[in-house]
Amino acid sequence: MSLSVIVLAAGKGERMNSKKPKVFHHVGNHPMIYHVLDVAKTLNPKFLSIILSKKLTSLKTEINQKYKKVLFAIQQKQLGTADAVNAAFNNKNICQSDVTLILYADTPLISNQTLKKCIAKFKSKKMDLCILSMRPKNANHSYGRLQMVGSQLKKIIEKSELQGDQKKIEFCNSGIMIIKTDLLSKNLKRIDNNNNKKEFYLTDIVEIMSEANFKVGCEECGFVETLGVNDKTDLSLVEEEFQIQARKKFLKQGVTLIDPDTVYFSYDTQIGKDVVIHPNVYFGPGVSVGNNVILKSFSHVENSIISNNATIGPFARTRDHTVIGEDARVGNFVEIKKSKIDKNVKASHLSYIGDAVIDENTNIGAGTITCNYDGITKHKTLIGENCFIGSNTSLIAPIKIKKNSIIGAGTVIKKDVPIGTTVYRKSELIKKNNKKKK
Ligand code: UD1
Ligand code: CA
Repeated sequence: MSLSVIVLAAGKGERMNSKKPKVFHHVGNHPMIYHVLDVAKTLNPKFLSIILSKKLTSLKTEINQKYKKVLFAIQQKQLGTADAVNAAFNNKNICQSDVTLILYADTPLISNQTLKKCIAKFKSKKMDLCILSMRPKNANHSYGRLQMVGSQLKKIIEKSELQGDQKKIEFCNSGIMIIKTDLLSKNLKRIDNNNNKKEFYLTDIVEIMSEANFKVGCEECGFVETLGVNDKTDLSLVEEEFQIQARKKFLKQGVTLIDPDTVYFSYDTQIGKDVVIHPNVYFGPGVSVGNNVILKSFSHVENSIISNNATIGPFARTRDHTVIGEDARVGNFVEIKKSKIDKNVKASHLSYIGDAVIDENTNIGAGTITCNYDGITKHKTLIGENCFIGSNTSLIAPIKIKKNSIIGAGTVIKKDVPIGTTVYRKSELIKKNNKKKK
């Protein structure tokens, strides 16, 4: 049974109140549409396609850089979800499969296990169409209601069309459906826009097929993974749920989170064994943490590799392709940007280290600054092994301080320092008695 996956992403997203396309808003520092594409890929579909609006056409290149085999179809006008799927049928390649799975790019928490279960039920019960269903926790929601007769799904009623007792139906549509491709193609054409919103609702296909005696059923899953994002409140709920799941995952993996609710992860955070994370630590994207690392409170790490036995924080910031070596210590109020800090380097207090390479066993004193920017370009600082950089030192880049050197406190260095050199600035201390005015 060959599978096509179509991801709907062309909606206007007006309720987000933002210039940014809805499906490019982030959850766990990853665009919602990428969450959906990631899970779709795990199903190994024959075709994976995205429906975009004309406005979003420029995003094709960006998406293609990450997802090479994805196909695109453009929905000319946003006339509703059925019209969006119709756009896919204009590209014959997309639809040459036995069954089609439709996913919404604004439903980013959906899991691979749930999708597999839904597909398995669709097959085992020999259904023609299967809707992934759920029961929302909050009463005031906008999900379509499912009208059932036994196990046959008769109709999906959209919120704007609800009448009388229909409002009480708790069983709802997640938006996700799996359907025989030929039946989708045929019945899509029969959907009209005779409704309050004058939209072509994909959900109307249920009534059309049920009335024609096709087998239409559902597979129920937990509500949270079907949370859809229509506005910023929904986005915050989905982010909250993403973080809850990430915390559970890392706790299960053996990471110590002293106060889990205050630690924030990204979609790609990787953490090794016996890592201890103190309260209020933030993981931006691209962080990989080794074993036995301690991350202390109020540290903000992103795009960084933190090697075994390192200690970070409190109040440390690492970013932009930084590598922290084994046993290294990055202390309070230290910012490290685009730098490689080797084994056992210590930068324990109040420093900015940018565009630098610091070799092993070097000590960076409090207040050391790599002056990497001359107002136009960024320059590099290279510090060899076993150096001692005294407190309050300014290193004017580009500069090389060769191994085994010592820089005295309060020095401003502009020229390279040869191997094994001590450099300090001799300035006389002036001492005067204050004559008291009478
Ligand atoms: C939809 C369902 C509703 C379901 C809910 C689950 C319909 C008619 N209703 O409602 O039953 O409970 O999702 O979250 O399908 N889109 C397009 N082109 C369009 C319109 C929408 O590509 O013209 C895309 C959107 O980008 C989005 C998805 O389709 O990814 C769903 O559209 P949205 O307008 O958010 O539908 P809901 O009102 O949430
Ligand atoms: Ca939605």
